[in-house]
Amino acid sequence: MASQLAMGGDVSAAAKLLLRGELVGIPTETVYGLAANVFDVDAVLRIFEVKARPAFDPLIVHIHDRAQLSALVSQVLPEAEALMRCFWPGPLTLVLPKSAAVPDVVTSGLDTVAIRMPNHPLTLALLQVIDTPLAAPSANPFGYVSPTTAAHVADQLGEKIPYVLDGGPCTVGVESTIIGWEDGLPVLYRPGGLPIEEIEAVIGSVRPHVQKVLPVAPGMIESHYAPRKPLIVGDVGSLLVKHRDKSIGVISFTNNLGAVRCETLSPSGDLKEAARNLFGAIRFLDASDVELIVAEVFPDRELGRAINDRLRRASA
Ligand code: TXA
Ligand code: MG
Repeated sequence: MASQLAMGGDVSAAAKLLLRGELVGIPTETVYGLAANVFDVDAVLRIFEVKARPAFDPLIVHIHDRAQLSALVSQVLPEAEALMRCFWPGPLTLVLPKSAAVPDVVTSGLDTVAIRMPNHPLTLALLQVIDTPLAAPSANPFGYVSPTTAAHVADQLGEKIPYVLDGGPCTVGVESTIIGWEDGLPVLYRPGGLPIEEIEAVIGSVRPHVQKVLPVAPGMIESHYAPRKPLIVGDVGSLLVKHRDKSIGVISFTNNLGAVRCETLSPSGDLKEAARNLFGAIRFLDASDVELIVAEVFPDRELGRAINDRLRRASA
């Protein structure tokens, strides 16, 4: 393992490292990923080690060209085809029946594989140069907030990986929306950067996944995306009163509560801007001297659904 992390925009350096079996931090429009060559089992196993991620939590595979699908999946359903046409490259992950070529460590033994085409010029260029798909979960220690800048990756994984490809701050800021099919019907595994309303406009209604005994899809693990400080979601006014003995940091959609430490995610009320700023605000307050983070409930539509999902899990 490397002890000195480098950070920069050098696609060919990143490619060389990946082809030698090393891990590299990669930018995407959603969050930064921790990437390995999907067909290199040892490298994929190191992703789990570096993140301290449980082996039952499957990874997402990143491609730059739909021609790469044939090596990864055994079937592309017509609805999946339609979604790819509309939304790739973009913040949408599709769970499809896997081909035998995808190592079981990638999918945690499931017979499906999660795939997406990220919309970031550096990572698309990287995928083209190496010409192999990349398995990449978010580049954070398991359970912590996902990174939305190269510096976030360096802060948390800097001693464990040799390189972060720096593509600037993520433009979407929450992870991809994950859609799969059960009994032939579309299912939402994780609300994310592509609003479900836009997906339903293409394939009709999508039902939320109902968890069985074990998390099938662990973005579904309840406590996730969590800061180290306690975080409570609810009515900010009454929470401030209830916890008035503590120093509190607030996450608000549009309000700026002058008297209190407050991260206002979008003064103009733009849910996309709010999503872009969410994880940075959580990290900032987590690193500050507040004792408690209080967040308001966001409008339950479009990216507000992904924001509420992440806040709820951060508070679990
Ligand atoms: O935006 C994103 O999706 C980012 C960037 C880096 O692409 N990646 C990301 O990966 O969020 P990660 O590992 O943090 O979340 C992957 C989640 C798993 O926790 C699981 O919920 C779901 O994807 N997943 C992966 N394979 C699956 C499968 N075969 N069936 C159901 N869910 C799956
Ligand atoms: Mg993650």
